[in-house]
Amino acid sequence: MSAASITKPKKPNPYAHAPRLPEGDALDPAQLVRGEFPLEIEVGPGRGGFLYERLAAVPELSMLGFEIRRKYATLVDDKLKALGFGARARVFYEDARLALRRLPEASVARVFVHFPDPWWKKRHEKRLVVGDALLPEVVRILRPFGELFVQTDVEERAEQYEAIVAETPGLVPVAGGPRISENPFMARSPREHRAIEDGLPIHRLLYRKP
Ligand SMILES: C[S@@+](CC[C@H](N)C(=O)[O-])C[C@H]1O[C@@H](n2cnc3c(N)ncnc32)[C@H](O)[C@@H]1O
Repeated sequence: MSAASITKPKKPNPYAHAPRLPEGDALDPAQLVRGEFPLEIEVGPGRGGFLYERLAAVPELSMLGFEIRRKYATLVDDKLKALGFGARARVFYEDARLALRRLPEASVARVFVHFPDPWWKKRHEKRLVVGDALLPEVVRILRPFGELFVQTDVEERAEQYEAIVAETPGLVPVAGGPRISENPFMARSPREHRAIEDGLPIHRLLYRKP
């Protein structure tokens, strides 16, 4: 047998069991996390640090994260349980642009998007998470006075987000905003901690549903 004809057995994906949302169209958040608390969503939590810090800072809060990397969705969901936050928060291996469509109208207090969209090539534009597929769903799921918080260390991206949110009916900048200088949410994402350590400027945008 020639070496070329030997195919290596494929390694099983260690994150094949990544947590997924239940089947069906409509989601009831109270079946996923404690329903009596205000619900917040993080889009693309990555390594999850914002969720852990926010849940520790605000005890009466539930959170859902949607993350397209299987590994992070699995590890962060497991760590939430290990930290004792399992009843108040879950992370699912899902594309946030599709997951938000399944949440009920006016069910969410805040949506956080920290340092999204690390893609630069024109052909990757369809992958951008802050865009036409996400924002109308954010408006729909936010309750009145609910908030959208977006931060990035790339000025061009911040300008792009400002322009696209300005075109989205149902979101207005907070008083004096949308640019705010500090993060008022008592928790930082991993990338935010890194940007601060590296002395990078952070562009923060805060909007409210009137
Ligand atoms: C640059 S990382 C930032 C991670 C984290 N938010 C932070 O600030 O440290 C962007 C994250 O968003 C996730 N992501 C990108 N597009 C997504 C989508 N459509 N739905 C859910 N997660 C997404 C990526 O997998 C990645 O974990």
